[in-house]
Amino acid sequence: MNLSTKITIAIDGFSSCGKSTLAKALAKKLNYIFIDSGAMYRGVSLYCIQNDLVKEGEVNETLLIKQLCGINLTFKNNDNTLKPELFLNGINVEHLIRNIDVASIVSKVASIKEVREKLVLEQQKMGEFGGIIMDGRDIGTVVFPNAELKLFVTADPETRAQRRFLELSETNKSITFEEISYNLEERDRIDSTRKESPLRQANDAILLDNSNLTQEEQLEFTFKLVQEKMRNEVVHE
Ligand code: CDP
Repeated sequence: MNLSTKITIAIDGFSSCGKSTLAKALAKKLNYIFIDSGAMYRGVSLYCIQNDLVKEGEVNETLLIKQLCGINLTFKNNDNTLKPELFLNGINVEHLIRNIDVASIVSKVASIKEVREKLVLEQQKMGEFGGIIMDGRDIGTVVFPNAELKLFVTADPETRAQRRFLELSETNKSITFEEISYNLEERDRIDSTRKESPLRQANDAILLDNSNLTQEEQLEFTFKLVQEKMRNEVVHE
């Protein structure tokens, strides 16, 4: 196989279904760039919280749109974990963006057309040379509609909430399973019904339900698909 062939891989799906875990592991195995596009929407949401643009759970859209050009989002690899971390205007916010206060407004922020336009352009730029795995909600439909491999990941809601509960309760002892479960349900509802690039499976995406798969199993499944795609790409070159 010609390993110099670098394809684009789009991974979309519901909240907390393990997209980023899969994308990260696959990127490591293939030596590809990994971008968690959700982190960018979370970064804009954190900006709103830090700059008083949120009142009683509602985002001041007009002010946010005016300030968008002053929001700079970059990823830098952590030297110890070798994983990419998000910087908001030069400050590492990787931990802050995972908090529930960010999660509770992020889908509202992500439904704003101007926010999406800015982030989609930045994401497309990151992927212009291929060799990238990006996960999110609109990667296979809007950001990289020509991606060589598209996956749509899902898992049953109970499993997803349980996984996120285990993850978040490590750093937040007071968080409850119900709170997380409600947040995932709400985000899925807003993400799937919004006007601007709603979450949906691209026609040519492969469905992966990982409810009963281990992380290794889902990685193996996906790696085989990548190998097949690369073989095809080489044949068609
Ligand atoms: O980690 P989790 O699956 O819970 O969410 P995430 O990938 O961090 O994304 C957070 C939120 O950002 C989603 O619920 C969407 O509202 C939004 N998002 C989006 O609209 N488009 C993307 N490409 C990625 C995320």
